[in-house]
Amino acid sequence: MSERMWSVRVETGESVQVLEVVEGTTLREALLDAGLSPYGVLTRKANCGGRGLCATCGVWLEQGPEPVHWHDRAAARYGYPRLSCQVRVEGPMAVRLITDKVMWGKLLPSL
Ligand code: FES
Repeated sequence: MSERMWSVRVETGESVQVLEVVEGTTLREALLDAGLSPYGVLTRKANCGGRGLCATCGVWLEQGPEPVHWHDRAAARYGYPRLSCQVRVEGPMAVRLITDKVMWGKLLPSL
């Protein structure tokens, strides 16, 4: 049986890529597999590995599924970036990466 594939449009700020992703893959995995990172410079190595604990993998979801994970529901409700590790690709999606993120979607305050 062949795997179902979905298109995920990813805007990085400078360019747009369209990924073909196997249904059921988490958005985090799909991004990392394509060489794209949902993380900021500090959290690229120090994160929870996709367990929904660190809240550092947020992306803007322009099109995608409703949230299921409690933290992702809170993000969607209050307008924060959605946790890419808690979003499964189950249809066509559109995502915008936060390219200037340092940690949780915010820049460090200027000194
Ligand atoms: S990788 Fe930690 S919450 Fe997503």
